[in-house]
Formats: sequence, C-alpha cells, structure tokens
Amino acid sequence: MFLGSGKAVPERVLTNHDLEKIVDTSDEWIRERTGIERRHIADDKLTTSELCARAGAAALQDAGITADQLDAILVGTVTGDAKFPSTACYIQDKLGASNAAAMDLQAACSGFLYVSTFADSLIRTGKARYVLAIGGELLSRIVDWTDRATCILFGDGAGAAVWGPAGDDGRGIIDTFMKSNGKLTDLLHMPGGGTSISMQDAINARMNYIKMQGPEVFKAAVTSMGEAATTILEKNGLTGDDIDLLIPHQANIRIIKATAKRVKMPMDKVFVNVNEFGNTSAASIPIAIDEARKAGRLKEGDLALLVAFGGGFTWGSMLVRF
Ligand code: UT7
Repeated sequence: MFLGSGKAVPERVLTNHDLEKIVDTSDEWIRERTGIERRHIADDKLTTSELCARAGAAALQDAGITADQLDAILVGTVTGDAKFPSTACYIQDKLGASNAAAMDLQAACSGFLYVSTFADSLIRTGKARYVLAIGGELLSRIVDWTDRATCILFGDGAGAAVWGPAGDDGRGIIDTFMKSNGKLTDLLHMPGGGTSISMQDAINARMNYIKMQGPEVFKAAVTSMGEAATTILEKNGLTGDDIDLLIPHQANIRIIKATAKRVKMPMDKVFVNVNEFGNTSAASIPIAIDEARKAGRLKEGDLALLVAFGGGFTWGSMLVRF
C-alpha cells in the first residue's frame, strides 16, 4: 500500500531563455516541440544521493515511518554518486536506515516503476514490511551542453514513495507491467565510462554524454507507452474511464498527449509538470505523484495509472489505488 511521498529539486532554475544564450535554440521551439519551459539544475556540490535522501526523508515523514523501520531502499538512477557502491547505500547512511537493505536498479526513465514493482514483490512475499522506492537523477552532469537536441530536455530532481503491506480496503499496487528491448540500446545511451569504452577514451571521443536519436526515441515512446497503458487496463478489465488520474513519464507533452489519447482519457485527468521540471528520467513519476497529491489532484482511494518509457529501451505501467 502507498504510505507517503516526497520530492526534492535543486533551487536553481534554468529557463528556455537562459538556454538561448548557451545553444542555438529558442523558447518558442522548446515549448512547441516539448512543452518544457524551465528545468531545475544542481550546483556542482550537490550529489544524487543527497537529493534522493531529501526526497526520501520527506516521504518517510509523510508516511509517518521512521528510517529504522525501513527494510529496503531501492533506487532507480542512471546518474549515481559513483560507479559503485550503489547510491542507495549513500542514502541509507544519510537517512540512518539502520535495518535496511540497499540497492540501485537501472531502468533509465522507467526506473521508479521498476523499483516500485520490486518493492511490492518484497512486501507481498513477506521479505519486507516497509520499502522506500526512490527515483533520482542529476542528468545535468551527463548532458552535453553543446548539443541543442538533448541539453534542452533534461532536468535534475528526486522523488520517493514509501510502500507498505496492503490494507484490506483494496488500496495498494494492483498490477504492474514491465518490458524491454535491448536491440535499440544505441538510440538513447551514454556509451562511455563502462567496460566497453573506458572513461579516458570516452572523454577523448565525447562519449561521456547522453546520446539520443530524438525522432526515433519519440516514435518508440509513443508506441510503448500506449502499449503499456492499454495492456494493463485490458488485463484488469478496465478502461480509461475507470482511472482517476493518468501519471505518465514527463518527457514531452506530445508523448503525454498521445498516451492519453490511446486510453481515451481527457487531458484534465492527466498530470503534467514537464513544463516545470523537463525530463528528470527516473525521478519524473515520483515527483509527479507527490505534486499531484499536494495539489489535491490525487486523493486517498483514487485509482491512478502510471506509465513510463526510457533508455534500454525499458517501459512499463502500474495501476495503484492510492
Ligand atoms: O525519457 C525518454 C526519452 N526521451 C524522449 O522521450 C525524447 C523523445 N524525443 C523527443 O521528444 C523529440 O524527438 C525532440 C524534442 C528531442 C525533438 O523534436 P522533433 O520534433 O523530433 O525534432 P527533430 O529532432 O526532428 O528536429 C527538427 C528540427 C531539426 O532541424 P531541420 O533538420 O529540420 O532543419 C533540428 O536540427 O529542429 C532542429 N532542432 C532544434 N531547433 C531549435 C533540434 N533541436 C533544436 C533546438 N532548438 N533545441
């Protein structure tokens, strides 16, 4: 069952007009093609674990759970503090979660849906009672600030949710759907810094940045998010009419609208904050959950459909009675 949420974003805001001074772009182009108006960007000292710990602490407070009650901290991120150990271990220390297992899971923008699915599995099998699921990214650290096709899209942020045992009132994660296609890894990736291209070679060849084939990723995102949304609805005998709020991954307003159209949901039942944060990858859905709740758009008992798509490719959906 969902117990609480929290978010944390850097204070510093980078507007489309600020970007006009960095690359050859315009506020009009960015708003029309993506729906993004601004994004939050970390200063040099902030780490992913720090931002995630802030979001996690807020979620724990919201849930009324103390850090030592957590059995696991699961973090979706592609921009961890270090290659290893996991960012979850740094967060475990920062929160003082003395009884928790900690690990990262890498599913790019689908990260939060993936970690929440595993949180749910741990809880259902009795291996855990309370799990903190976090999606957090400092994408600004791996963005090529000379590439106008990508640098306008991404932002920094973290969002978190505390999951606990299902109540007897039907609230909780009702179903999840996850899929991947590794044939398309090259369309959206940061190729350097792993075992295939060393960090030194990557720096020399500018491979230590996000590389994306935008239009191809766009088409795959529309198809996959549509599939994820319709599959989980059909499997559960539901239609868009039964859903109180659609919370899609916030990458591009045109992808969000196409997903809503596939499940025949009007835009007033779709949560959108891509204008404020840009694409924060794994953080986008938990930030949206927290904002939707605090804005009164997502209330206890509401049925929400969460849908994500990201590099890998990975995609998925989740039905949650909040
Ligand atoms: O989180 C999941 C992963 N990411 C995504 O879901 C992103 C998916 N892709 C997209 O959202 C879109 O493909 C973009 C927003 C990245 C690009 O929009 P598009 O409508 O697909 O534009 P495009 O790449 O086809 O480029 C159209 C034109 C090109 O100029 P020409 O060749 O027509 O003269 C680009 O060079 O727009 C140009 N362009 C820009 N112009 C101004 C590309 N980036 C910019 C820019 N400012 N920032």
